[in-house]
Amino acid sequence: MTIDMFSLKDYVVIITGAGGAIGGATAHVLAEAGAKVVISDLNLEAAQKNADEITKATGQETLAIKTNVTDEAQLQELVDATINKFGKITALINNVGWGESTPLWGVSTDYMVKSYVLNTVSSYNLTKLCMPYLKKEENASVTFSGSLVGTTPSPEFISYSNAKAALVNMSRSMAAMSGPDVRVNTIIIGSVDNGAATLEAGYDEAMLKRLSDSFVMKRRGNPKDIAYAFNYLISPAASWVTGIELLVNGGGIYKSKMPTGDDE
Ligand SMILES: NC(=O)c1ccc[n+]([C@@H]2O[C@H](COP(=O)([O-])OP(=O)(O)OC[C@H]3O[C@@H](n4cnc5c(N)ncnc54)[C@H](O)[C@@H]3O)[C@@H](O)[C@H]2O)c1
Repeated sequence: MTIDMFSLKDYVVIITGAGGAIGGATAHVLAEAGAKVVISDLNLEAAQKNADEITKATGQETLAIKTNVTDEAQLQELVDATINKFGKITALINNVGWGESTPLWGVSTDYMVKSYVLNTVSSYNLTKLCMPYLKKEENASVTFSGSLVGTTPSPEFISYSNAKAALVNMSRSMAAMSGPDVRVNTIIIGSVDNGAATLEAGYDEAMLKRLSDSFVMKRRGNPKDIAYAFNYLISPAASWVTGIELLVNGGGIYKSKMPTGDDE
């Protein structure tokens, strides 16, 4: 049945940053689709809360674990804890990421490097550790949380956008070398409402309104819009999909600027 092609029954999925908006919604959706999810976050309290809610709502076993993704020893602990609890890893979602608005010429070397380590290098390290386990599983995959700012000029997010741009090429390189055993893809995420985190990143209400209005769909995304895309990319339905960037962005960048007579 077609619906079974989207099922994640018997899948074990590690999701980083799963105490947050997109990672949390993704953990919830994947558990509903049948997966056992490992909810990893720097913020253990948020991770545990999501894990408890998911188990209560879906009956699925979950594992909440504190991980600072920039610490390689903690990444190894995450992999070991997953294997100890569930015995395998079918999919990895490298979702941690963070960036704030900075002046184009106001970023230090340290800041640039920190951003790169958090957004890109950490997921390289975790993918490397998971790869031997992923290779043993059918339809195994790695998926990254990319960003629209990593694919368009984004001078106001210079360090974050550089790091997210690098993520795309890293994902393609991994895909080229990991097939046919492991599929590797990136979701290019448009502006998603993640509550306070958006404002912390330097947006104000007026910017958010302009952003929403600029999208073809006339709204920012909600975390589940992205979670469903992760579900697809991990599922058997996507077993021939690797090395791609899947844009989930409300159609923002596709609106033609050409005069058509239909414009307001
Ligand atoms: N929300 C958006 O508009 C948007 C747009 C494009 C891309 N993204 C990307 O989507 C991903 C998720 O974003 P979100 O909106 O859910 O953000 P969020 O802030 O809600 O969640 C991020 C989570 O990562 C955790 N985290 C931060 N540093 C960490 C570290 N060192 N180790 C482990 N965990 C850490 C935080 O505790 C938080 O729970 C990120 O990669 C982000 O760059 C988001």
